[in-house]
Amino acid sequence: MPLARSLSVTSLSGLEEWDEEFDLEDAVLFEIAWEVANKVGGIYTVIQTKARLTAEEWGENYFLVGPYVESNVRTQVELIEPTNPVLKRTIDKMNSSGCKVYFGRWLIEGSPYVVLIDVAFTAWSLDSWKRELWDLCDIGVPWFDREANDAVLFGFLTAWLLGEVTQSEEPPHIVAHFHEWLAGLGLVLCRHRKLPIATIFTTHATLLGRYLCAGSVDFYNKLADFNVDKEAGDRQIYHRYCLERAAAHCAHVFTTVSQITAIEAEYLLKRAPDIVTPNGLNVKKFSAVHEFQNLHAQSKNRIQEFVRGHFYGHLDFNLDKTLFLFIAGRYEFSNKGADIFLEALARLNYLLRVNHSDVTVIAFFIMPARTNNFNVETLKGQAVRKQLWDTAQTVKERFGKKLYESLLVGQLPDVSKILDKEDFTIMKRAIFATQRQCQPPICTHNMLEDSGDPILNCVRRIGLFNSSADRVKIIFHPEFLSSTSPLLPMDYEEFVRGCHLGVFPSYYEPWGYTPAECTVMGIPSISTNLSGFGCFMEEHIADPSAYGIYILDRRYRGVDESCNQLTSFLFQFCKQSRRQRIIQRNRTERLSELLDWRYLGRYYISARHMALAKAFPDTYMYDLHKPTSTSGFRYPRPASVPPSPALSRHSSPRHSEAEDNDEDERYDEDVEAEKDRVNILSTGHNQNYFPGLK
Ligand code: UDP
Ligand code: G6P
Ligand code: GLC
Repeated sequence: MPLARSLSVTSLSGLEEWDEEFDLEDAVLFEIAWEVANKVGGIYTVIQTKARLTAEEWGENYFLVGPYVESNVRTQVELIEPTNPVLKRTIDKMNSSGCKVYFGRWLIEGSPYVVLIDVAFTAWSLDSWKRELWDLCDIGVPWFDREANDAVLFGFLTAWLLGEVTQSEEPPHIVAHFHEWLAGLGLVLCRHRKLPIATIFTTHATLLGRYLCAGSVDFYNKLADFNVDKEAGDRQIYHRYCLERAAAHCAHVFTTVSQITAIEAEYLLKRAPDIVTPNGLNVKKFSAVHEFQNLHAQSKNRIQEFVRGHFYGHLDFNLDKTLFLFIAGRYEFSNKGADIFLEALARLNYLLRVNHSDVTVIAFFIMPARTNNFNVETLKGQAVRKQLWDTAQTVKERFGKKLYESLLVGQLPDVSKILDKEDFTIMKRAIFATQRQCQPPICTHNMLEDSGDPILNCVRRIGLFNSSADRVKIIFHPEFLSSTSPLLPMDYEEFVRGCHLGVFPSYYEPWGYTPAECTVMGIPSISTNLSGFGCFMEEHIADPSAYGIYILDRRYRGVDESCNQLTSFLFQFCKQSRRQRIIQRNRTERLSELLDWRYLGRYYISARHMALAKAFPDTYMYDLHKPTSTSGFRYPRPASVPPSPALSRHSSPRHSEAEDNDEDERYDEDVEAEKDRVNILSTGHNQNYFPGLK
């Protein structure tokens, strides 16, 4: 393989530069995950967003390996002939031996190469591979566990692929980075077959952790006491657990996404990670500082349009004083904290009502469940809204024509006559069509398991049914968002931008991309001190809530107390003026660079170097004593006091009486940003953001 190159330096403006010379001559990187070009949850986001930086570093020598899923390939991948002769030979050989392996470019930033394996096509090998697995390490995979069967097929096929690559005349130094238990068997087989490959295993959660937390277990206080084999057996995931634990133990380098999951892994998988590799994002910086605020306003308008339709006939609240809150992610009711969010919404509703607040809250739940498509009432809402819009346009045109004709003859129109009988008939008909016998629906879809659904059951219990008296309304959209949806045609990013607050009160959350994504878009969020993201922000920001990063205490408080704290965060948020929200969004957005792969990518780079040095000690060296944690840096408290209308107005040079004068708000915030900058420089906070990571 024509592979001679050396590693580039990763740096980030404002934050400490990090140089690490590491000669990667003759090295190739394979990154293997079930979520390559296959969206399931946050692992997809890790791989997809990291690709650009990794492709910049490894160029033609970077290959992602994932499953072949036809619908995904049609929309995301350009299939091409393998560019690399060794890979071409490998893929041809596998395809002539009863496999279906595809090669292409994934059409995302960085356009990395992908090798996609159709596991179903090789299902004929499943039984013999399961027997081999049993003979090898006594792991028996039951026939009914479809995901585990896929893991077996995917594992044997990836090990086959990598084995073939090592058979070339001058094999390169290979780093194979496997993500999560579904891909882990490939790693175990590589080690068992003694392939000359440096292996890394990253776990994004532990299977047992996820399962235990989903039950009612005092997980974090009992971590040291679990009888892991028994717990896995009781939950019928013993075989999965064994695959995961084997991968963690066989890897040259074992990593996970946060400190809290590192502790969990140590207890449940019985190996402490060698390095924590926090998750980053590709941060877009706009040339105009306030561009993201404009995007918020545009997206909010689109959500408002949807709400106008959804609540037709019951639009008795002021949309300009309506706040959009949301929770999103895989549907794990209690792990993701949807349970305490609903409870807190009920309490918030009470507080807003007794305080006669004029604020309305609409809370969106975006969590995919099994459905039979959109329900009629929801679709009708959007149709009615469209009809009202069309009616208004028709009347407006007729009105405009009469106005024009009147002006042409030099007369002002008689306003009392400008709308005639027919106009009124059209408008009355339209208004009659908006009459509705039922409340606006909670759920946008027909649920397959309506009576057993945890969100719907909780809504039934707390009685938040979108009635006029309620200040808190709920919309459950049990499907990920898409710009091609006939109901709410927005992609997830646009939707997040248009909301006011993301609420992610997770109990089990190794990282949690959703609040991180809010942050880089300048949208405040609530996370918890049990989530990787929450702990990371708590560690690196002196006063997170001043930056719109609310961290709920779910570690040291009981459920009811946490719920009260969440209610109080929500109530305080509802009391902010528009001016305060704008200032807070500006602050939130300023934290983006902390979450940028251009900075966080260094931990992945370290993990690869460590693995190469362990697998090929004659060629590579790595200082194992080098500190690899992110400790040391703290984002200072904002220089100015927390936003309050009176104080921030005071500093405004062009104070206007209007409560919500955007120009003033922007000016205030620019002054504040400059103060913060001066504060950072003068206190030397930027001197050594990440000591030890030079
Ligand atoms: N997400 C999405 N569309 C949606 C809602 C969520 O693509 O409508 C994505 C979101 O962008 C995030 C991921 O789902 O990247 C969820 O990742 P997270 O780490 O928060 O949780 P996980 O599901 O992996 O546990
Ligand atoms: C952005 C826009 C402003 C708009 C504001 C609404 O800052 O630039 O023009 O007034 O958003 O903020 P709100 O929090 O009320 O949605
Ligand atoms: C897992 C975790 C989530 C994390 C994601 C990416 O799915 O549940 O918290 O953000 O992986 O690492």
